[in-house]
Order: sequence, then structure tokens, then C-alpha cells
Amino acid sequence: MKPIVHMSAQHVVTPMGSRRRYKADNLPESLILSARTTDPVVFDPAKHLAFRLPQKILTFDEVGQSNDGISSNAVSEPFSLFTEEAVKQMRAEVFREDILEKCYCATGRSSGQVRGHCPKDVKFICDAWNSPEVLNIISEVAGVDLVPAIDYDIGHRNISINADGNENDCVAPGEATDDSAEFCESAFGWHRDSYPFVVVTMLSDCDGMIGGETAILTGAGTILRARGPARGTAVVMQGRYVDHQATAAMGGREQISMVTSFRPKSHHIKDETTLRGVRNISHVPTLYTQYTEYRLENLERRVHDELTKLRKRKRTDGGSDVRQTRDWLREQRGFLDAMLSELQVH
Ligand SMILES: [Fe+2]
Repeated sequence: MKPIVHMSAQHVVTPMGSRRRYKADNLPESLILSARTTDPVVFDPAKHLAFRLPQKILTFDEVGQSNDGISSNAVSEPFSLFTEEAVKQMRAEVFREDILEKCYCATGRSSGQVRGHCPKDVKFICDAWNSPEVLNIISEVAGVDLVPAIDYDIGHRNISINADGNENDCVAPGEATDDSAEFCESAFGWHRDSYPFVVVTMLSDCDGMIGGETAILTGAGTILRARGPARGTAVVMQGRYVDHQATAAMGGREQISMVTSFRPKSHHIKDETTLRGVRNISHVPTLYTQYTEYRLENLERRVHDELTKLRKRKRTDGGSDVRQTRDWLREQRGFLDAMLSELQVH
């Protein structure tokens, strides 16, 4: 993990003209102020979606990895998802003063992340990711019905600025040398995500940008790079089960990507969500509450379904299926054990 460097505070001018110190003082003032010029509107699927099916969706077989996941689709190529107007709305919400104050965290000399603002603080983004139209699209590309994993991980934003536009400052992942600029490599390296699926949406212009895409490590040890992203495009990836990393963006002035995490809609499908990768960047009581709530809701539904089956058997032939019941109990014990290991008390 890269060290966090706090730049010396600088004064910037707010749209209202008052001078103050920003929490996001390692980002260019011009970027923040230009994003704020967009007036907010309500999310409208008819106006804000520009969906076109990805040219290719790679299966686990095609990336040479074993399929331990919940569908055979490993990762899609970038596909058109949001219109320019939608992208502007999302950028405006990212850089709102109250959001930066509350939800921004610097992660490097000129980079940071914004997270933890749903469901209350950023209406457009929350409405977009919860809309039936978007969920249908994401589920179609994923090959399984999905819902947002938890509110906390809707619309997580990674922001990085190549302030002087000097692409020589940045290197691709795995190619860093002692002379390479700090923070230009992916902060995460090769990894698997905490949640079953992830959708990464590009909110920046990619003209002149080299990299900025998702690299996949194949079972044979080679690296697959999808076609480069463009503003408004998204990638759907089964990140919990695919070894991957984001590649450094070079040549562009900024890279702002939005990451929304998903889990299976059906409570019967396995859910191996872990909080390992998000606990240290979240308000832990909020994270734990949202995780516990949906897990217990799913458990409640599973118990309801199991009871219904048992009562039906009782009504029809009075028989029991002890083996099946024991299998079901073992599955639920594993589900609860997983929760116990995630909900750590310090
Ligand atoms: Fe990831």
C-alpha cells in the first residue's frame, strides 16, 4: 500500500467567492470549479443512458482462469452506458463542496477517492445505479441478476491527476523502477475485489490517454488488456474471482473513474463478499451495519424458503429429508461463520 502524502494546504476560491481550505486541496481548483457549473437534474433513463452491448464479454475459460464465481462471464470490454449529460451530472456530484468535505480522502500527491455518499447525499448517482434499467443492463452483461452490494459501495470515485501532463512521470503497473514517479502505479497491484461483481465507469476524457484500462492476469501468467475506455463507458467484471489491476493512465490530464460493486440478487446464490479490501477505507460502523442488514435479510429469506419446503413435505407425505436438511444447515453455518470473520471487533 502506498503511503498517504498530505500536500501543504492551499487556498482556493469557492463559487461563492469566499476563501477557505479544502480537504481536497491536492486537486486542481479548475477541475473542481468546472465540474460545479452543471445544474442538477433528476436521473432519467430515457435521457441519460446510451447503452450499447459490449463487443466482447470474456468468459473464465477465455481468460484461462478457473470459474469459481457466480456466472461464466469474467470481464466485458468497455461499452457505452451513460450519456454526456449523465457524466456531467456525476462529475458535478463528485466535486460538490459538501461531498468533498465529507467523503474525500487523499490517496497520493495528486489523487484521492470519494466514497460513502449513498443513499442520501448524491441523488443522481444513487438513482442511476438503483434504476431497473441500469440493473437490467448490468445483469445482462454479467450473465446473472445483480443488485448493488451495499449503499456504501455505490459510486466510489477514484480521482488521479497528471498535473503537468508529463506522461514520462508515469509508468505502467509492474514496470516501476527506482526512478519512477511515486503514486503512478496502481495502488492495489494484482488483486481480487471484495464484492462478486464490479462496474467501473469512466468519467474522464480519454483522448491522448494511454492505459487507464483493466488488466487481467491469465492462468498462463500472461496479461490481457481490454480495449481502452472512453468517457461514459463501463466495464463489468467479476472482480471477486478474477486476478486484475487497474493500469496507470498516462498522457491524459485527469482520470476519474466510478466503481460500483454488485452482489447476486437471488438469496440462493452464494455470496462470498468480504470486507477485507474496504474496511480500512470506510466508516466501519456504517459498513458493518449495511453488510449485516443485507446478509441477515438473505438469511431470513433462506430460512423462510426452507421452512416452506419442510412444511410442504410434512403436509404431503409426512416424510423428512435429513440429509438435505443437514446440507442446508452446513451451508448456513458457513454463511454465519463468514459474517463472524468479517465483523471484527478491535
Ligand atoms: Fe479491483
